[in-house]
Amino acid sequence: MFQKEVYAERRLKLKQELSKGLAVFMANQEAAFNYPANTYAYRQDSHFSYFFGLNHPGFAGVIDFENGNEIIFGDDVDIDDIIWMGPQPSIKEQAWQVGISETYSYSKLEDYLAKASKSGRTIHYLPPYRGSMMITLGQLLNIPATEVKAKASLPLIKAVVKLKEIKSELEVSEIEKAVDIAWLMHTTAMKMAKPGMIEQEIAGTIEGIALAHGGPVSFPVILSVDGQTLHNHHHHNVLKEGRMLVVDAGTETQTLYASDITRTTPVGGKFSTRQKEIYEIVLKANMDTIAAIKPEISYREVHFLAAHIITDGLKNLGLMKGNTNDAVAAGAHTLFLPHGLGHMMGMDVHDMEGLGENNVGYDDETKRSSQFGTAYLRLGKKLKPGFVLTDEPGIYFIPALIDKFRSEGLFKDFVNYDKVDTYKDLGGIRIEDDILVTENGNRVLGRPIPKTIAEVEATCAEAREWLKIPGVF
Ligand code: GLY
Ligand code: MN
Ligand code: MN
Repeated sequence: MFQKEVYAERRLKLKQELSKGLAVFMANQEAAFNYPANTYAYRQDSHFSYFFGLNHPGFAGVIDFENGNEIIFGDDVDIDDIIWMGPQPSIKEQAWQVGISETYSYSKLEDYLAKASKSGRTIHYLPPYRGSMMITLGQLLNIPATEVKAKASLPLIKAVVKLKEIKSELEVSEIEKAVDIAWLMHTTAMKMAKPGMIEQEIAGTIEGIALAHGGPVSFPVILSVDGQTLHNHHHHNVLKEGRMLVVDAGTETQTLYASDITRTTPVGGKFSTRQKEIYEIVLKANMDTIAAIKPEISYREVHFLAAHIITDGLKNLGLMKGNTNDAVAAGAHTLFLPHGLGHMMGMDVHDMEGLGENNVGYDDETKRSSQFGTAYLRLGKKLKPGFVLTDEPGIYFIPALIDKFRSEGLFKDFVNYDKVDTYKDLGGIRIEDDILVTENGNRVLGRPIPKTIAEVEATCAEAREWLKIPGVF
């Protein structure tokens, strides 16, 4: 947890954005894994944590925009809880740690909200993403659970996005800690990417690194020799020479700030010529687009820069043809890059995505494209200093997509399908970094993670050592 002033200042800034009504922020509840008492590892709601800091289930926080009151609703533990969980600070003590003096039992929340509602006051809340929270909020607000999400407050969503999209130095330093741990996760995976290994051995080891540093991982580890499957979460394949291992993984700090890094490693430590040729295109797309990141440029423009680089590169190899501008305008590159260049990152790895992708990544000036592939671009709007985002171009040879586009006669003027067919066994390559937009340009966050062919091959050749990132937790 940060010092109480951090949370007090965040609440103050929110009060400067809204003047009517009050906002209620719900802490996450415990979530059952396979029976009620066996729960998933507890994860606090990111918005509750941002404004109220406490990593405790079942609390609620209220900010009143009219009288300025700040309240935490929650209960002290009883002797049964102490027997099972050990002694806990009182609700008063916990609230005081985040600069709040007014507390009530959680059982008072329903009455409190009912009274506010009766007197015609607006109760702002953010859209819930867990079914149980929809039911809880429905009961508290006396609306059907199925309507809770749609009735969330757009003014509160907009205010929260406005505050949270600009990261403070403190937040950036947390994200950098998360990237430093990802450095160890990814360099370890490179060293383990030997023929005969099973993916799960590497996935388990790197998730263990996250946990050993206070983890958890910021999203389920994506690790596969089938890198053409973008978010492959099964880890049963045996690594074989000639394949590449895509590892997309990150961790989060105890204050819940994420990292999200992808590296692609040749099994056995040496890229083949064909792999190198494709890898260099993805690397150029990653590095040249990073160089373009600066305030006022729209991320959609940066995304299309990646599309141009990939199209040019594939043309040089004879996989694509025709005029690059025309090919990109038609969307032919989406056969190879069927996703967006990146997304906002913060306390959620796709930062604030639960508030609605368009509320976070788009605005009145930049509207989302409906073109296949480009529609997956989660961040399109103009960049501002303080944004933290990912830059993650890739090239994938997805046999089913190649066959589909070909059979539908799509992009015949831009794709050499006969040659592309010979690449159907290549898999996929993605390279992803976490970037801070600065006043004049950008900064790639954290300890540099091997990325060029020479760096990746050199890391693969190193012996694995057990390390801990100093001073992280
Ligand atoms: N880790 C999922 C993504 O890169 O967006
Ligand atoms: Mn990722
Ligand atoms: Mn990402």
